[in-house]
Amino acid sequence: MSQLPSRDLLEIDGLEPQHVTAILDSAEAFLEVSRRPVRKVPTLRGKTVINLFYENSTRTRTSFELAAKRLSADAVNMSVATSSIKKGESLYDTAKTLEAMHPDAVVIRHPESGAPHFLARHLRCAVINAGDGMHAHPTQALLDAFTIRKSLGRISGLKVAICGDIAHSRVARSNCALLTRMGNDVHVVGPRTLIPPDFEKAFGVTAHDRLEPALQDADVVMLLRIQRERLGEALLPSLREYARTFGVSRALLDRLAPNAIVLHPGPMNRGVEIEPELADDKRSRVLDQVEAGVAVRMALLYMLIGESQSSRAPT
Ligand code: CP
Repeated sequence: MSQLPSRDLLEIDGLEPQHVTAILDSAEAFLEVSRRPVRKVPTLRGKTVINLFYENSTRTRTSFELAAKRLSADAVNMSVATSSIKKGESLYDTAKTLEAMHPDAVVIRHPESGAPHFLARHLRCAVINAGDGMHAHPTQALLDAFTIRKSLGRISGLKVAICGDIAHSRVARSNCALLTRMGNDVHVVGPRTLIPPDFEKAFGVTAHDRLEPALQDADVVMLLRIQRERLGEALLPSLREYARTFGVSRALLDRLAPNAIVLHPGPMNRGVEIEPELADDKRSRVLDQVEAGVAVRMALLYMLIGESQSSRAPT
């Protein structure tokens, strides 16, 4: 029996706290595999994972590829730039074409919210959302939760401040969904133009337009970049002014709880959301997040397409 409620991982909704705990526990074991001299186990031998990325990625794509390879699965990276997508092939036809090659999982990143859900309705194999538009980035939220639990020993009862471009951030949405579900006190902070009016109610969080109250005694501060590729209109006067008002300084970090940690999903813009040298502060867990990304994605591939899973009929 699967420990997860669905054949796919499309968003945090649908995962109960026990599912999150099971994923994080499994990732603990896979973290150990990545630290061995020989970083490979036979768990997914004979399985195939296709990475289908319609947007740029460094961390997510590489870690899914490594996760599959460390589990002995075959990993194939589809390069959109050199594929027939450039000749006008639709997402549906691309996905059905890939499915004819019998993958066990398709990992998709797409600029349109809902693209992974569309694929899941049409494919027999597991579909994993590696980030869709502004909607969700569930594996990022899970690796962030893993990093928090590893650093602080728990993943509930914490004050968490998420700072920056909340409106355009799938990372913020998935983290708010996961962290509130696990019983944390979540605060979001940024310019009012970058926090949707219904965000507090939708996610059960507290919104601020000043960093000080959000960061005061926080156990975790998560910094987000300004998503310039998604800023449709002039929602910000200038990056320089944004950095002056919402860039995290040492004085602001001193407001945090004594053992607080700093997270950033990357890519980081030093000098914008954080003072350049603070990105390497001892409280920063940015590289731990990257390491956790491989372990959590190994755990998810194992739990979604491991031996006990069966395929479903496509619709
Ligand atoms: N955190 C994250 O999604 O990074 P990439 O865009 O590099 O995958």
